[in-house]
Amino acid sequence: MDLGVFAFLFPAASFSRCKQEDGNCLLEAITATFRNFYKGVPEIGLVQLDPLRIDKMDIVQGDGPINIVLNFRKVDLTGFQQAEIKKASGFTPNPTKMELDLLVPVVSLIGGYKINGKVLILPIQGEGSSNMTMANCDISLKWTGKLVEKSGKQFYQIDKFKMHFDTTRFYMDFTNLFNGDKALGDNMNVFLNDNWQDILKELKPAIAEAFKQIFESVIGNVFSKVPYSELYLA
Ligand SMILES: *[C@@H]1O[C@H](CO)[C@@H](O)[C@H](O)[C@H]1NC(C)=O
Repeated sequence: MDLGVFAFLFPAASFSRCKQEDGNCLLEAITATFRNFYKGVPEIGLVQLDPLRIDKMDIVQGDGPINIVLNFRKVDLTGFQQAEIKKASGFTPNPTKMELDLLVPVVSLIGGYKINGKVLILPIQGEGSSNMTMANCDISLKWTGKLVEKSGKQFYQIDKFKMHFDTTRFYMDFTNLFNGDKALGDNMNVFLNDNWQDILKELKPAIAEAFKQIFESVIGNVFSKVPYSELYLA
């Protein structure tokens, strides 16, 4: 059987298709989607991926050395145009578990923030614009689900969704900390970046949870809009 790559990769339907077990073809095809269709494909429910607009995202870290409420509003996640797919599995005719691993050279989250709390004993407070950037961001997305029938057609419905990530460097830049006290704010930014490894370790589960919801919604949106078999070329 000739299972095509996702048809949405190639709305013009003029590209080569992948054989069902041709993993390399699938990797290249999904990578090409990020390169060429990062602005989104509304007909199939694929939102713009780069920048990916996030209206609201909250990182709440309640215990341990870091105790913060970090609210982001109207932030843009950038960098996914350069995503390289490392692994794609489970894209079978009768899918249950699926997995996508991607490597993004530079991911930045840019936009408005508000922070309150304590970071490694130092109080932190501020509201302004922020830039959180990760280099060599390794992202693993795994989900389970099944085909369900809706108005006579089979759609893939996500059940459980998991997200893990790692990075070789985490940069933070918060403007207007401490009501605009520049000396305090500059010191805090230096402190945060000097301690990025400890901070990332503490914040990782909260960051992963926030991004999990975003990626689940992006992927789930496509699956709920297009019958599963129509995602592939016939
Ligand atoms: C965000 O921070 C990174 C790392 O410091 C930097 O390379 C990038 O230019 C910054 N982006 C913006 C929009 O300021």
